[in-house]
Amino acid sequence: MSIFSAATVPARLKDNPLAQGSLWLTWSPSFRRLIGRLRQAGALRQRVSITRVPSCKPYDKTYTISYGKLAPELRQEIEQFLPSLKTQPCGKKAVFFRRMLSPTLNSNEIRAVFALLRVAFIQQEGNPAASLYSPVSPEKNDPGFNLHADLYLPTKLWLIFDDVPDDGSGASLFLTRKQLLRSMQSVPGVPKKAHQEVAQLLDLPLAKDSYNKMYDLIYDRRKTWCQRLQAAMSRGMQSVCLFRGEGYLIDDRNWLHGRSPVSQAVTERRFHRLTFDMDRDYSAQ
Ligand SMILES: [Fe+2]
Repeated sequence: MSIFSAATVPARLKDNPLAQGSLWLTWSPSFRRLIGRLRQAGALRQRVSITRVPSCKPYDKTYTISYGKLAPELRQEIEQFLPSLKTQPCGKKAVFFRRMLSPTLNSNEIRAVFALLRVAFIQQEGNPAASLYSPVSPEKNDPGFNLHADLYLPTKLWLIFDDVPDDGSGASLFLTRKQLLRSMQSVPGVPKKAHQEVAQLLDLPLAKDSYNKMYDLIYDRRKTWCQRLQAAMSRGMQSVCLFRGEGYLIDDRNWLHGRSPVSQAVTERRFHRLTFDMDRDYSAQ
């Protein structure tokens, strides 16, 4: 059962090479029908709460929902869609989404859908760290977010934007891992050790959340090479401005992501973020 079906590129992005060269998807008709059944059963009005998964520290918060209350046949239906989500190719090419919210889902309902998918994943894997629906960190004034890899234990990163301005601010930024590693090799002064450590973080299965470690390796502001590296990364970067109901799915080990400054406060509903697919060895790729 396929959770997604093909969509067209939004007309406003006709001149955006990344958007044009990527796959665009939306909910499949069969998943939309399941959404309807979940709504009818009251599952999309269920309370979504925040819990912690200690093995994911320090970014151990995740939304969760009571899955056991759901009728067994609805649980089974949700689980039938997991393989297609898990195996959706997103390594070399980023995947973009559109029409993921209204009229199909409102903000509260997508929260319930993502929470249900998260619990279905962790039950299947028998590991609470196998999928996280991590809350957004709100910002009153947003300076933007430098390119980074999240480096949660799961490798796939799926975002659907919700509370975003439509003025073109807060664009999503992307840089491939290849471009990052090439820049680290070519920019004068970047220590070989830093390059090797970053390559290792992206290649090898992680024993723990490594976001801070990698961020500190790339943005070592005490070092003179840091600014040069940032400039090289900016030259290789691509950006796409995504509106409400749009989003992306990337392999977090193959793509760095970030955002340009947002013109308004970043709220806890800026986006919905689900991680899944446990870590594996990328070194042979
Ligand atoms: Fe991130």
